Amino acid sequence: MSDATPILHMLSPQKHMSPFDVNMAADAGYKVIVPYINVALEEVTPLVQDAIFSRPPDYGSHTGFFIGGKDAILALDMLEAARKAQVPPFHLSVLADPAGSFTTAAAMVACVERVLKFKFGRGWKGTKVAVFGATGVVGFASSIISALEGAEVQLVAHRGVDRVIKSAAVSKERFGVDLQAVAGETEEQKREILANAEVVFAAAAAGVQVISKEHKEIANNLLVVADVNAVPPAGVEGMDLFMNGEPLPGCNALGVGPLAIGDIKYKTEAGLFKQMIGAKEPLMLDFRHAFELARQLVA
Ligand SMILES: NC(=O)c1ccc[n+]([C@@H]2O[C@H](COP(=O)([O-])OP(=O)(O)OC[C@H]3O[C@@H](n4cnc5c(N)ncnc54)[C@H](OP(=O)(O)O)[C@@H]3O)[C@@H](O)[C@H]2O)c1
Repeated sequence: MSDATPILHMLSPQKHMSPFDVNMAADAGYKVIVPYINVALEEVTPLVQDAIFSRPPDYGSHTGFFIGGKDAILALDMLEAARKAQVPPFHLSVLADPAGSFTTAAAMVACVERVLKFKFGRGWKGTKVAVFGATGVVGFASSIISALEGAEVQLVAHRGVDRVIKSAAVSKERFGVDLQAVAGETEEQKREILANAEVVFAAAAAGVQVISKEHKEIANNLLVVADVNAVPPAGVEGMDLFMNGEPLPGCNALGVGPLAIGDIKYKTEAGLFKQMIGAKEPLMLDFRHAFELARQLVA
């Protein structure tokens, strides 16, 4: 093991780097952490090359980049730019996790997968998933992860279906998945979606309730409901913060609450940072790698 100091350069296209991610990086073992803010996509290549050429090639795995922000597509573009900027044998590792969304989505899908498997003997193949908050970063990543596993995913629009149609097109182009964009603006539309769904991902904004008591009553096919919102009121009425496969009151489905998901999210992000610090070869990590790890963590 090289005695090179683990250094993490943390890039955000926004005006702040997330203190949450800075703390996570320090606790995972990075000794030097430098935040960069208001970073544009075209600045990633020079920043990466400035970092790789300043250290001997065998120090490369101890040099990391983190990509934050609040835009999943931009974060994926920055990750790709960082990958292309490597000049072997000079290299470094990169993790993209905008607004914690990739690790949160990975944790939510892994927690639900565990419940599907152990309580219903099922996997994702053909399972009907409805994603609320589909235009958000957590909704975006969780819809792609579950679709890659074979789920039939509906992206539910709460104001104008055009933006979820766009999101479905981007997901098809980048990840080859077929996501269905559906309007969920009226109560009638929402009821129809919930009557058919087997899994719900409630990933709307903090403090927004998307599934009410009445919705649960008509959701007869529902097996598992996951809610990432920890800010009252719950995203799903009756959801307990720590619920992890217990019955959700008011329906036949089982619930997975935000702090059960948060626990795996936290361990996943920490684990990915540790993988980067210990890597012999450069790692390029997005929500797919996060899901791989989250799956092991819930097992
Ligand atoms: N448990 C954890 O560990 C953890 C970690 C990170 C985040 N979170 C939580 O995950 C959730 C999503 O975070 P995010 O970063 O993806 O948020 P985001 O990017 O701001 O997205 C929020 C989503 O909610 C939708 N929305 C807003 N108001 C709504 C309403 N009244 N009805 C239905 N949908 C509505 C938004 O739609 P528009 O695009 O139309 O506005 C968007 O799709 C938040 O509750 C956040 O607190 C949890």
